[in-house]
Amino acid sequence: MSEASFYSNAEGYWREVPSTVDGMLGGYGSISNIDLNGSKAFLQKFLGEGEGKTGTACALDCGAGIGRITKRLLLPLFHTVDLVDVTQEFLDKAKTYLGEEGKRVGNYFCSGLQDFLPEDGRYDVIWIQWVIGHLTDDHLVEFLRRCQSALRPNGLVVIKDNVAYEGVVPDEVDSSVCRDLKIVRSLVGRAGLRIVHEEQQMDFPKEIYQVHTLALR
Ligand SMILES: C[S@@+](CC[C@H](N)C(=O)[O-])C[C@H]1O[C@@H](n2cnc3c(N)ncnc32)[C@H](O)[C@@H]1O
Repeated sequence: MSEASFYSNAEGYWREVPSTVDGMLGGYGSISNIDLNGSKAFLQKFLGEGEGKTGTACALDCGAGIGRITKRLLLPLFHTVDLVDVTQEFLDKAKTYLGEEGKRVGNYFCSGLQDFLPEDGRYDVIWIQWVIGHLTDDHLVEFLRRCQSALRPNGLVVIKDNVAYEGVVPDEVDSSVCRDLKIVRSLVGRAGLRIVHEEQQMDFPKEIYQVHTLALR
């Protein structure tokens, strides 16, 4: 498949998905709470006062969808949150889904991550969840490099995503791939980022992929 169809097929897939939490999670809306609680515990290890701690001024939610993560994880912890997603309809939905606290959203960027240039030095945390499989290896590496330049001092890039048992597993339905952990780690390394912490998300249903969270800087 050509690179152009890899991206346009994914765009077409997401345009047909309902703007709901269940839509964001492929029918697994029921795992959202477990996911968000795990993410909060993960992120809180890095936040707070003192030497080397990550600030709480501004976060970026990548592949944000309707803002499921922005609403329950990022807006409660950061003063300002920006969202970027390729599907305009999801960003439109986010404007009501986020409610009153959504006033603290700085920007809604409608863009593919492969084309997105985050502003230099703007973000304390760049959260990238359940979307890296929609980027080619080279685009992922280049995007991660741009993310590194977009960090504030002590900032963090976080990837939380499905990991395959071995190799690269394509998904023709949503036009994505699922990579094993070794491959993800090597792409992170190619981007010049270092893994500072890594965890597996616990308590997810047995039939879905394992989900790992990696903190990078
Ligand atoms: C599985 S959903 C996850 C949404 C959100 N991260 C969450 O966990 O609730 C994948 C999201 O990635 C978006 N997406 C797909 N390909 C993308 C791309 N190339 N660039 C940016 N966003 C993309 C879709 O529109 C969709 O909102």
